[in-house]
Amino acid sequence: MDRIQKSYQKFSDSYDAFMTQRTWQSQVYNELFWNSVRDKDIAEKILKYIPDDFSGFLLDVPVGTAVFTEEKYKKINHAKICVVDNSEDMLEKTRERLGKCGNIKILQGDVSKMQFSNNTFNIVISMNGFHAFNSKDQAYSETYRVLKTGGKFIASMYIKGKCKTTDLLVKHILTKKGWFTPPFETEQSLKERLEKMYRIEDFHVDGSIAYFCAIKK
Ligand SMILES: C[S@@+](CC[C@H](N)C(=O)[O-])C[C@H]1O[C@@H](n2cnc3c(N)ncnc32)[C@H](O)[C@@H]1O
Repeated sequence: MDRIQKSYQKFSDSYDAFMTQRTWQSQVYNELFWNSVRDKDIAEKILKYIPDDFSGFLLDVPVGTAVFTEEKYKKINHAKICVVDNSEDMLEKTRERLGKCGNIKILQGDVSKMQFSNNTFNIVISMNGFHAFNSKDQAYSETYRVLKTGGKFIASMYIKGKCKTTDLLVKHILTKKGWFTPPFETEQSLKERLEKMYRIEDFHVDGSIAYFCAIKK
């Protein structure tokens, strides 16, 4: 088990409460360090990029515990969905949420070496993933490889350079905990990277989080 897997193993029990600000501590943390930008709100916005009548192939990597995606995935029940994460502990929670859905495959795996053929998916979604992944170039090229031409790459991630307090937290705490892994994108580096591979359809920055929908050229 690598360092990132170990850190998410320890975090998996408290992850949902923390990410959805169910505890007062997480609310204070969110206000102090993330300018009150809530992951739940960003998730709602990016899930709107997926039409409610979507019936193609969708890959979600990393799915985590599916805390933000459960409702949407249950709604798009004609879609063929694969969800991947490299932490078994996070996936255990996903299995509780989505394990009974016949159209959803739950797989343990590493984003940087996925078993899918080229051009498999109509949508690849990666929420809060790229700031955690360690082999970022491989993660970008794998998510690109498995997406069909004309398919949608939808993602959200932390970007540096927007708020000093957030950047200090990421550098000195979240990276040390193994929840975040440098190097991190800036708004500009992310746009430049995407433009080489995709046509950017929509791109926003909310606090220190970038989220977008891009189409594979
Ligand atoms: C911050 S969570 C995001 C989960 C979910 N998308 C969400 O927004 O709640 C980051 C996830 O990335 C997973 N992860 C880290 N490195 C990975 C890798 N190389 N391949 C697949 N998953 C990875 C972790 O196990 C963790 O579940």
